[in-house]
Amino acid sequence: MNHLFSLREVSVLDINKILDKAESYKNKRKFEELNGKKVVNLFFEPSTRTHYSFISAEKNLGMKVTNFNPQASSLKKGESLYDTIKTFESIGFDAMIIRHPQNNYFEPLRGIKVPILNGGDGTGNHPTQSLLDLMTIREEFGKFEGLKCTIVGDIRHSRVAHTNIEIMKRLGMKVYISGPKEFDDGSGEYIDMDTAIKDMDVIMLLRVQYERHGYEIQLSKEDYLKNYGLTMDKVNKMKDHAIILHPAPFNRKTEIDDDVVECEKSRIFKQMTNGVFVRMAVLERAFE
Ligand code: CP
Repeated sequence: MNHLFSLREVSVLDINKILDKAESYKNKRKFEELNGKKVVNLFFEPSTRTHYSFISAEKNLGMKVTNFNPQASSLKKGESLYDTIKTFESIGFDAMIIRHPQNNYFEPLRGIKVPILNGGDGTGNHPTQSLLDLMTIREEFGKFEGLKCTIVGDIRHSRVAHTNIEIMKRLGMKVYISGPKEFDDGSGEYIDMDTAIKDMDVIMLLRVQYERHGYEIQLSKEDYLKNYGLTMDKVNKMKDHAIILHPAPFNRKTEIDDDVVECEKSRIFKQMTNGVFVRMAVLERAFE
């Protein structure tokens, strides 16, 4: 039984095994491996991609799927997260997917005896997002070692950035951060946007997470797009083989211009497709 809380707890060997499995699901379409197992998805924060691609992955594997609604639960009577999760363990679910706004919410849950897969914790970890990013990069370049990636934007509030910086370095990639200085939390080596655009194999954009700020950022959307957003002018300066990633959802005309979203270098919708296969792979791994 394997929980998946943070990629920091997963070896490079295991990361590559998960990606191999995800690729084999994508290529061979071999499904139904977890036929009949009961899974509950507990999302305490809004989600479209992670929640619904987990549902798609679970159904592909033949699992019986339940979606928890926090608004209609005993959380409203003051029940704690721990007691809620212990309840789902006790009433016979075989696995749980949890997204929660609190960093490291999973620490008190380590003793739960059915696998828990983290669908994102606050600004901390987003392991399955990072795995789908890695799958998309590996499909493109066939390797990680030596590739250069700049993660651009709201680094401070991004669990995607924090997860990717750590694992990409461990995989031998050179990782930089860029964007407004107010979002630089020191978690990576800063590079200016013009240099990054010309020099990178991968440009990973991040959503400006207005809902986490608690204050007004200084830049207007227009100034953000001009200085730190990706426009076709900048895309045309990227290397021929370079690609654009974004975990989505995106703020169009802020960190990404409309015509960049589906441009030839964008792999944004491929990332979403790959998300189903990496989620199948981590579900299968949960029961090893
Ligand atoms: N990328 C991502 O986690 O999207 P959702 O918030 O829609 O799940």
